[in-house]
Amino acid sequence: MQRTSVKRAREVESIGKQAIVEGWIRTRRDSKGGFSFLELNDGSCLANIQVIADAELENYESDIRRLTAGCSVTVSGQIKASGGRGQTTELHASEVEVHGWADPEAYPLQKKRHSLEKLREWAHLRPRTNTIGAVMRVRNRICRSIHDFFQEDDFLYVHTPIITASDCEGAGEMFRVTTIDPARVPNTPAGGVDYGQDFFDRPTYLTVSGQLEGEIYATALGKIYTFGPTFRAENSNTARHLAEFWMVEPEVAFNRLPQNMELAEQFLKRIAADVLGDCAEDLQFFQDRIDDTVLTTLRNLAEKPFHRISYTEAIDLLQQSSEKFEFAVDWGADLHAEHERFLTEKHFRAPVILHDYPAAIKPFYMKVNDETVCDRGATVRAMDVLVPRVGEIIGGSEREDRLEVLTARMAEQGLNADDYRWYVDLRRFGTVPHSGFGLGLERMVQFVTGMTNIRDVIPFPRTPGST
Ligand code: 4AD
Ligand code: MG
Repeated sequence: MQRTSVKRAREVESIGKQAIVEGWIRTRRDSKGGFSFLELNDGSCLANIQVIADAELENYESDIRRLTAGCSVTVSGQIKASGGRGQTTELHASEVEVHGWADPEAYPLQKKRHSLEKLREWAHLRPRTNTIGAVMRVRNRICRSIHDFFQEDDFLYVHTPIITASDCEGAGEMFRVTTIDPARVPNTPAGGVDYGQDFFDRPTYLTVSGQLEGEIYATALGKIYTFGPTFRAENSNTARHLAEFWMVEPEVAFNRLPQNMELAEQFLKRIAADVLGDCAEDLQFFQDRIDDTVLTTLRNLAEKPFHRISYTEAIDLLQQSSEKFEFAVDWGADLHAEHERFLTEKHFRAPVILHDYPAAIKPFYMKVNDETVCDRGATVRAMDVLVPRVGEIIGGSEREDRLEVLTARMAEQGLNADDYRWYVDLRRFGTVPHSGFGLGLERMVQFVTGMTNIRDVIPFPRTPGST
């Protein structure tokens, strides 16, 4: 007899088969007719399989009638058609073996529903709940979709480093990596820290983005993507920020901003279509239990064209709207989440790509526009994709490919050209127009599931003051 997942055992094709199903008990109900119903879950799908355990089984009194939520079991038996509501099959047990008991006095995941905040305190047990289980299955499906989308289009998956000496976003929000003992810091004669005695001979950090290294590979191999953990020491305690999150970053040689926007749109549409196709049961759960706009917004994203407007047009729109904002809207300032959400949720009611932002609020690597693009000040070929509920889900740009403009921008932003010699070299030797963007995986999972707090869409959230 072969082990069958609950997911397979629930399919009509399994009727009549002998099977072994293994997992954890959700509930037990004893019937007067001399048998018990066990709801068994193994994480392969949201639903449980109903096990019917007859009083004739030899360990019925000693084991089966003592089963409670969280106990682990192996059930062998026959899968039969079921007349029960919400199920086409049920498993008639010929044998039930108990592996581990879960003391009902101590096991916290009893039938009563716990708040998501409470569940965060039990990071080791919360994947056993319906909500976190569904989130993780969807997260997994999204990751597969990400790889499929790029691999089918001949992108190379490049592993960019986690430890780096450069600050891609120039925001100084980096976690330091060092082997220096904080109790015995070596000093230079001038009194600063002597990094010459540190492991890497200079200051190093956890990466905030794989982009700069991604550009190296894109300007040699054409189309690449990197997908890995990134780290930001920004002290933002919001429902959309993590200190450790996963980012997907494609980078394409010869792509200009319009092609970059098109790639981002097709990419998000593909993920949406795959999840809609393969995660119907989990999505219905989010629609019923978490947010009843989940299915419509996801279908909209999959089917409707994204709007594209410039930052300058967005500012005009926001200033002309009658909406009361907490933060002022001025050309030259960064948009706040409330502005972004107004645009995507209320004004367009669809995903929007904003492009051509003021140069002063964007990193050094973005391509500078000539003055004809905007008469209010210098702009760069940046793009942000905004979606309902989440706001910014993607940030990207065309990259500055002109040597002199790049070095001037670096000087302007106080970057040490020596530290970025390799990056500048890409413009000295066979420079090409190129573009890319970054999608925050957790923001995508939030968008798809409707989960309001980003801490509930990553297995182990790291946020200020909490690991
Ligand atoms: O807009 P960001 O900072 O762009 C970059 O890092 C570029 N280097 C990407 C590129 O062009 N290759 O970040 C990209 C995306 C954001 O749009 C957001 O979805 C996500 O990463 N993100 C975060 N997600 C969770 N927690 C945080 N603290 C995040 N910061 C950014
Ligand atoms: Mg951004």
